[in-house]
Amino acid sequence: MARVLSGVKPTGKMTLGNYLGSFRNFPKFQDDNQAYIFVADLHALTLPIDPLVLHSTTYDIVSFYLASGLDPKKTVLFRQSDIPEVGMLNAILVNYVYMGELSLMTQFKEKSAKLNQKAIGCGLFTYPVLMAADIFLYDSDIVPVGEDQRQHVELAHEIARRFNSRYGGEIIKLPKYVTPAVGKRIMSLSDPLHKMSKSDDREAQKGVIYLQDDEKTIRKKIMSAITDSGSEVKFDPAEKPGISNLLTIYGALKGMEPEEASKLFVGQNYGTFKKAVADAVMDELGPFQQRFNAFRSDESALEDLFSQGALKAREAAKPVLNRVMKAVGLR
Ligand code: TYM
Repeated sequence: MARVLSGVKPTGKMTLGNYLGSFRNFPKFQDDNQAYIFVADLHALTLPIDPLVLHSTTYDIVSFYLASGLDPKKTVLFRQSDIPEVGMLNAILVNYVYMGELSLMTQFKEKSAKLNQKAIGCGLFTYPVLMAADIFLYDSDIVPVGEDQRQHVELAHEIARRFNSRYGGEIIKLPKYVTPAVGKRIMSLSDPLHKMSKSDDREAQKGVIYLQDDEKTIRKKIMSAITDSGSEVKFDPAEKPGISNLLTIYGALKGMEPEEASKLFVGQNYGTFKKAVADAVMDELGPFQQRFNAFRSDESALEDLFSQGALKAREAAKPVLNRVMKAVGLR
């Protein structure tokens, strides 16, 4: 049985990009694999964050997992900071990753560029090391993520390879990433050349569908999405990035390739097409939001779930950490 591992950072409001790139895909791994899905709360500290937002968003994420269909009887659901072993593994691994490698990471370059250059936290720089620790600690085979996290999983693969060749044998399992067939990179509705991301910028927020937006807001954002010149609903990301992004969203929700989705709208105008996209989003997000609200309203049940998840996750983590500590001579 393959082991599957993934996580989401509790940093503010989650987007339709997070949903299509991650949450939505996790349940399909829970029947034939052993899945470990967690809330990456330690990673949330890599950029300044209000403690109340971090605390509350942690419950949001686990409620989104449950609303997506993850079943705690099948999937180990847990909170990263409940697992002390991950801190130890991170402290070891940081010695096997080169500063040159970390400085090449796109996420670091983009996020650090927005900060005061004299106040870039080291945690932002070593973010991929903690992520590698998450991946290795449960002997993961498969890591489902959106396109923007691919580089980090590839670096983890390289670290594992380096570590194993230095100490001999398969001490750390080599991870592989998988991205969803459709929806691995959802773009902003107001600026389809940029990724849809959690953002503080008010202008940029118009292009972001948040999972907790109400129906009216969601429909309005989709109806005012930037479209391209011409009037044909066609999948052509270079010439028609706006329409192509909407086709990707539609296709991801309906389980079809965007090209195939475009055939449903031959001869129809942009307005009719956008309405169909808004309907598709609401058909899925409406019931999802209701399930979310039900789970989110009981924080003590969510805490119980975290405690049970931590026990199972630590059981898996301990032998792996032991193996690594033995290999390097710490045991
Ligand atoms: P986070 O919270 O930034 O992103 C969570 C997931 O959402 C995906 N995603 C998108 N997918 C499609 N289109 C978009 N516009 C979009 N925006 C975000 C991300 O690719 C990601 O899969 N570093 C991870 C958290 C983490 C992790 C791990 C993941 C920590 N340790 C170990 C896997 C394995 C992250 O960026 O989360």
